[in-house]
Amino acid sequence: MDSYLIRGGKRLYGTVTAQASKNATLPLLAASVLTEEPVGLRHVPDIADVRNMTRILQGLGCKVSWQGDTLTVDSACADTCRVPRELSKELRSSVFLLGSILSRFGCAKVSYPGGCDIGLRPIDLHIKGLKALGVIIREEGDALHCDGSNMHCGDVMLDFPSVGATENIMLAACKLRGETVVRNAAKEPEIVDLQNFINALGGRVSGAGTDTVRIEGVKHLHGISYSPLPDRIAVGTYLLACAVCGGKMCVEGCIPEHIYALLIKLRESACKIEWKNDKIYIEQNARPQSVHITETAPYPGFPTDLQSQFLTLASVSEGTGIIVENIFETRYKHVAELIKMGANIRIKDRIAIVRGVKELHGAMVEAHDLRGGAALVLAGLNARGVTALHGVRHIDRGYERLEEVFQSLGADISRKTVKE
Ligand code: EPZ
Repeated sequence: MDSYLIRGGKRLYGTVTAQASKNATLPLLAASVLTEEPVGLRHVPDIADVRNMTRILQGLGCKVSWQGDTLTVDSACADTCRVPRELSKELRSSVFLLGSILSRFGCAKVSYPGGCDIGLRPIDLHIKGLKALGVIIREEGDALHCDGSNMHCGDVMLDFPSVGATENIMLAACKLRGETVVRNAAKEPEIVDLQNFINALGGRVSGAGTDTVRIEGVKHLHGISYSPLPDRIAVGTYLLACAVCGGKMCVEGCIPEHIYALLIKLRESACKIEWKNDKIYIEQNARPQSVHITETAPYPGFPTDLQSQFLTLASVSEGTGIIVENIFETRYKHVAELIKMGANIRIKDRIAIVRGVKELHGAMVEAHDLRGGAALVLAGLNARGVTALHGVRHIDRGYERLEEVFQSLGADISRKTVKE
């Protein structure tokens, strides 16, 4: 079990390059099952969720290989539509394999997915969407038996713009004769990346990035080599680290407009922040100012995946800030750990009232989920003294050796591996 040892109080200086997006790479890996030709993904981050997804693909009979940071999936020999329970439980993204496995094999058997413990995370919208395409779904315990032998195109209205449900239906509809429409679709950049990927495979998808996605089924999809888009949440995490610790940073290889909501909030926090082409520059030399209220929302609103890290910024800002988490029910698990470090936070349902303190102090803390863990790293980088952060396995799910990124910026952070 790995831990971080962080000696805080150092300003961060330097340049970092964005990693490829976890939340784009995972659906692209699911989509690789749609073709019997090899698919190469370039600059793929070496993170636990990607490794778990490749294990699921290998369980389906796909051949997976790494050449440096290029990951190649050859699904020609894929021969089963069943995802082993223990692997389904590992990560949320196993659920949107449903769509691509159904499209490839006409059947699918998966267990209810795992992933971060940030709420109930039902999959009712996925199931409703697939049923609208003629899939017959039988739930047995926590397993889903899906019969897609009579699948057909359809018109799906999502009750909520669910990212995963939008992706699942896009994948399921790729090879269905006729046009499938997804209304009230998620508009996240990762949906646009999936559309671009499917079209590069020879598919015909349009409308991604708007609330209506149209999928024209095609007979054949061929292999390609593709670079997933940069990870906007990792980029936002690095920028928030600079705002929390002070210093001067450039993040390159990113798409600033993908985190425009955060950039505006950082300006409101009195950070100096500029962006041009694929670079974002941030400088913070004084104590950040509290932002009155920040509410998470579907894209292009403030991303829920940056809420935890933004809460750390609020914890050390001058003044009182209010944060409202509108997407997940319990995304404040790391608050108790922040309070151990001297933060002054009150939680009322989905609302966090944060009275900023001048600085935090080191403590022994535990990560309970991916983004809450990243938020605790930022808190440790700010804190006076030493912070021991346990549960780094949660952080490794979505960040590639996060300690090395911050070491390159001058932070005093090291990874300790304790033999289990
Ligand atoms: C994706 O999760 C991301 N994960 C999440 O990132 C991200 O927080 C989320 O989208 C929102 O942007 C991946 O892409 C792998 P949703 P997903 O379906 O698809 C409810 C991270 O830290 N809902 O848009 O699971 C759900 O409970 C992770 O990188 C239903 O009620 O998110 C939640 O309250 C965390 N029924 C809300 O919708 C459903 O069938 C948003 O979920 C599906 C979702």
